[in-house]
Amino acid sequence: MTTITCIDDLQRLARRRVPRMFYDYADSGSWTESTYRANQDDFKAIKFRQRVAVDMSNRTLATTMVGQQVAMPVALAPTGLTGMQHADGEILAARAAERFGVPFTLSTMSICSIEDVAAHTTKPFWFQLYVMKDRDFISRLIDRAKAAKCSALVLTLDLQVLGQRHKDIRNGLSAPPRLTLPNLVNMATKPRWCLGMLGTSRRHFGNIVGHAPKVADMSSLSSWTAQQFDLTLSWRDVEWIKQRWGGKLIIKGIMDPEDARLAVASGADALIVSNHGGRQLDGAQSSIAALPAILDAVGDAIEVHLDGGIRSGQDVIKAVALGARGVYIGRAFLYGLGAMGEAGVTRCLEIIRTELDITMAFCGLRDVRDVTRDILLPGSFPR
Ligand code: GLV
Repeated sequence: MTTITCIDDLQRLARRRVPRMFYDYADSGSWTESTYRANQDDFKAIKFRQRVAVDMSNRTLATTMVGQQVAMPVALAPTGLTGMQHADGEILAARAAERFGVPFTLSTMSICSIEDVAAHTTKPFWFQLYVMKDRDFISRLIDRAKAAKCSALVLTLDLQVLGQRHKDIRNGLSAPPRLTLPNLVNMATKPRWCLGMLGTSRRHFGNIVGHAPKVADMSSLSSWTAQQFDLTLSWRDVEWIKQRWGGKLIIKGIMDPEDARLAVASGADALIVSNHGGRQLDGAQSSIAALPAILDAVGDAIEVHLDGGIRSGQDVIKAVALGARGVYIGRAFLYGLGAMGEAGVTRCLEIIRTELDITMAFCGLRDVRDVTRDILLPGSFPR
């Protein structure tokens, strides 16, 4: 029995239990992975101010993201192929998030469909949209998210082209996996995963298969992106998407103050400072390093969220201290899911909550809404 005390423990267990191609898919950054590494390294460089002999009783982590109550300022990020980390992965993660009181964001590239996740949850989740060439298909996706009562739309703007992830090419990533000899040999060492997959019919891109007639090769992410994703995407598209959706809109993939101003002008409710977890533009700065200039550019005109590099509650509070209203965890919850299914996602959230809560106390605060850069050591954080 493995004792789980931190996200690293979940990661180690996931590496043992998930077939290599899907573990690697989650764990990769693009090209040299310098941005992927910077996301975590830049968090590590930020230092706290420790305070003592202050009242630490009655602490609270509750706040809001886009006007919705959250148990702590953390949401589950949209991640592709989540249902390949563990059978029925999106449903399990959504359930864990719902029980915990944080938002779950379903990716367009999920295995379980919007309708399927809605049928297996009781509270609204968020839906993430990629803009594809087929506008009728996009319109239908938006309508499906509305019909499923999703309470926010997360529109990703940084994936018109795909950053190359070497491991995905070497592993021949596809969903479902092709039954080649190396894949079969690797899967034979992951009996839990195989049993789960044999027990479910959810093994394809559930939002797409049967809904988008012109999609030829559904299995390969790179060929599919190249065929379907819209190279002409512009802020004018954001306008019609916002109109068609009519609800809370969150723009994901902002790394530049100029784009942040455009996001404000689009009328979105929030933006996410994100370099796609270091999976797209290799050589971009870390998201935590990009945050201060973006906040300077937009002030209070829009809610600012952040993802990339969050592996602990300490990371969460550092991002909040620098001005993020909330953050998203992607890999952290995927490790939990791959390690232990729904219980692993819950464990991940519990670990992060405890770390966040205790760190806040060490910094002399009792309410996460009072956290400012005052808790950080001057000179140790990006400006
Ligand atoms: C898709 O969003 C990916 O980063 O693989």
